[in-house]
Amino acid sequence: MKFFLDTANLDQIREAAAMGILDGVTTNPSLMAKEGVSGIANQYAHYVEICNIVGGDVSAEVISTDYEGMIREGEKLASLSPHIVVKVPCILDGIKAIKKFTEMKIRTNCTLVFSLGQALLAAKAGATYVSPFVGRLDDISEDGMALVADIVKMYRTYDYKTQVLAASIRHTHHIIQCIEVGADVATCPLSAIKGLLNHPLTDSGLQKFLEDYKRVNK
Ligand code: E4P
Repeated sequence: MKFFLDTANLDQIREAAAMGILDGVTTNPSLMAKEGVSGIANQYAHYVEICNIVGGDVSAEVISTDYEGMIREGEKLASLSPHIVVKVPCILDGIKAIKKFTEMKIRTNCTLVFSLGQALLAAKAGATYVSPFVGRLDDISEDGMALVADIVKMYRTYDYKTQVLAASIRHTHHIIQCIEVGADVATCPLSAIKGLLNHPLTDSGLQKFLEDYKRVNK
């Protein structure tokens, strides 16, 4: 399973890249705003900076909600770096735009996916990735991970090539569940990835090893 970092924060991206486990990054307009990145020129420069650190796929989201606008924006975003994947919302014009981008050989991430039917349309349009939002479904008492599992099953049954990118991951256990249901990618906060390291037996085992070493190496 691939790990993407779900942030536009350059320090966190550098830290994850230095761990050697980073396969890509996903951003969205809210994450860009959180870093205070405003204005088209600054946003484009920020995407390029992320691409230079990661060396893997970097999702950059269109702001337009109409077909022509999405195509214009997507072409510009895709021209910034070969690592850019154009992120498009799962709405009618978005599906049309994904189909066009597929013909243009521009890679896409169909975002804001909350149902199996939306994931079917994204795959039929040729999306490179589909992003079911796990945490936001959990927030309204639905089962976000069950949706990821259903999409994985559908794509395997019908041999769709679209990769399932589990998004809106909130904690470490979500990552474990992504592995269990066979997600292709999990895009996560850095804290959730670091949480995978936590085990009390690792900590107590290491402490004992160091104590024993010190006892005979005074
Ligand atoms: C990533 O592609 C999504 O935009 C992101 O995971 C959404 O996460 P949130 O629900 O925590 O905002």
